Amino acid sequence: MATAMMSLLEVLKGASEFLGKQGVESPRLNAEHLLAHVLGLKRMDLYLQFDRPLGESERAPLRDLIRKRGTGIPLQHLLGTVEFCGRTFKSDSRALIPRPETEQLVERALTYTNLSSPTSSILDVATGSGIIPLTLAFERPEASVTATDISPEALSLARENAVLLGVDRISFHEADLIPESLNASFDLITANLPYIPSAEIPILSREVQNDPLLALDGGTDGLDLIRRLALLAYERLSPGGHLLLEIGIDQSEEVMKCLAGHNYRDIVALPDYQGIPRFIEAVKQ
Ligand SMILES: C[S@@+](CC[C@H](N)C(=O)[O-])C[C@H]1O[C@@H](n2cnc3c(N)ncnc32)[C@H](O)[C@@H]1O
Repeated sequence: MATAMMSLLEVLKGASEFLGKQGVESPRLNAEHLLAHVLGLKRMDLYLQFDRPLGESERAPLRDLIRKRGTGIPLQHLLGTVEFCGRTFKSDSRALIPRPETEQLVERALTYTNLSSPTSSILDVATGSGIIPLTLAFERPEASVTATDISPEALSLARENAVLLGVDRISFHEADLIPESLNASFDLITANLPYIPSAEIPILSREVQNDPLLALDGGTDGLDLIRRLALLAYERLSPGGHLLLEIGIDQSEEVMKCLAGHNYRDIVALPDYQGIPRFIEAVKQ
């Protein structure tokens, strides 16, 4: 990029062209997000300022971000935030970048009528950045909410998100799935566990490779943790309580079979917006 004064639109075009050449998907959108971040504007406000001249002091930090994005560093890590169910959460390399599909898991959980009683309790296993329990805590203020993750780094991010959003009623635990020390029983257990088969990790996109390995690797067929949780969760659900899982493509049949083997009832696969069976719901007898 040259040092002479350039208009915002010229800068935007140059940045998106560069990102496109680097193989970044939706290069213009990425460039807009990064430019808005540098200028402290909302992305849509850029459209009202296309003729605004941008000097070197604004272009230099953008150049740095665009260069990093071109190497595959995810947009959310560069912005430091991600939107989830209408709220802004911190996002960085400590935990998986929340995926849009997971909003549907939360929406499904919010249809369960038993979560509105003051004695209801929710457990989110493998909480990552904490998006699931924090959103549920907002939407179901009567419920007690607990979250676990085996990664201290992910939990530190989840706790920071709780502070950022002003939620102080979630109990976070560093643990393998559900620790014995949690002696409560739960009306809902949610989990978006690592479900990628180990052999597929090296062929994931550059962006996904930036997620912690611990957040991705589900063992040989991707289902190691889901199988373990299916058993543990049955023991920790209240009668009539729901287990709600997010799973990978082509895993629904195997997961449903596993849950049936542990005596769950009303086992259903629910599609995401692309029609892929992405969530499994089951009820404890
Ligand atoms: C796919 S990420 C999901 C994070 C978050 N729930 C979300 O939807 O964005 C999976 C999470 O599982 C955690 N994890 C991996 N193995 C675990 C285990 N044995 N027990 C608890 N958490 C585990 C990882 O640290 C990671 O945060």
